Amino acid sequence: MSLNWLEEELKRLKGENLYRKRILREGLKDFCSNDYLGLKDHPRVVERSLKVLKEEGLGSGASQLVSGYTKHHRELEETLARFKGTPSCVLFGSGYMANVGTIPLLAGEGDLILSDELNHASLIDGCRLSKASRVVFRHRDYEQVENFLKRERHRFGRVLLVSDGVFSMDGDMADLKALSDLADRFDCILYIDDAHGTGTVGRGKGTLEELGLEWKENIVLMGTLSKALGSYGAFVCGSEELTEYLVNKARSLIFTTSLPPAVCAGAVESVRIIEENPEMVSKLRKLSERIYLQLKELPVEVKFSGTPIIPLIVGEERKAVEIAGRLREEGILLQAIRYPTVPRGTARLRMTVSLRYEEEDIELLLEKLSSLLRE
Ligand SMILES: Cc1ncc(COP(=O)(O)O)c(C=O)c1O
Repeated sequence: MSLNWLEEELKRLKGENLYRKRILREGLKDFCSNDYLGLKDHPRVVERSLKVLKEEGLGSGASQLVSGYTKHHRELEETLARFKGTPSCVLFGSGYMANVGTIPLLAGEGDLILSDELNHASLIDGCRLSKASRVVFRHRDYEQVENFLKRERHRFGRVLLVSDGVFSMDGDMADLKALSDLADRFDCILYIDDAHGTGTVGRGKGTLEELGLEWKENIVLMGTLSKALGSYGAFVCGSEELTEYLVNKARSLIFTTSLPPAVCAGAVESVRIIEENPEMVSKLRKLSERIYLQLKELPVEVKFSGTPIIPLIVGEERKAVEIAGRLREEGILLQAIRYPTVPRGTARLRMTVSLRYEEEDIELLLEKLSSLLRE
């Protein structure tokens, strides 16, 4: 069969301003990375990773269940379980793999999944892979969840409530108190993806800590190493039985090579740095607040919820792409985020704040944004 249709599809994407291409980030000032605490090249993180890299080599060589599980993997799991206040933790190759591997195991045929409409794509795909019935609820509308559970809970076996902790494209937080109460009242499991809450809210432990909550047995706490921890990979924290079950059944853990040991060692060091210096997290928050106050003066809708994700909602896809392109000409990388990552017509420049930013770069960004948005 000919592949001409690909050309047509690509033309269509371009016509709709939904065409994507990768940008080499070298030479650009990056304002959209998720390395919120600047840990990816922290001297302690680099030194520890390098030491293990020299000892162990680059790859792990096999999956966790074959010979790819080292003392560095175990140390990271133990470190994360302690950090998150859970009995146990298991590593995955990435956040995407953690979500698509875990969710279908928690809810299957005859069960129900209730999922926030703004959940990350990897949660959506995890839900789609499950054979459970699925209901997408309006963003943070827990009354809708409650009403649905009151009416329909009895029809299902297990029920899974799924939400981001900090929402990746809007920066706001789920009300985990409300969700956890609903999970208790209606006998549900609460699945939280705290990829963006880890290292950025509370004293760094994440959204539960920020909201003054503690882990309970009916909570499954997923997070990534790839954002504030400055590394790569992901984890699921919860009860001993949960992680044991995932090791036995999660296809995206079993049938894939484990993380490189040096990556795990670097992540252990990142967690230690956050534990020893929780003031980094308050510093990040203060910097985010200050940048937000400056962005608020610009003629564009800016969302801010106290996290380092600050989207500038431009609306039209074409306009977002144009502004991002003009910023690149000025040496600034601030990507346009469009459908299907966010709903149509809500295209945005998703700015993230990082402790790595230099004062003069922030000034430059604000100045360029100001003149572009006023044109
Ligand atoms: C909320 C959320 N969950 C999961 C992921 C996937 O994590 P990873 O990049 O490690 O696959 C991301 C981003 O990448 C995310 O923003």
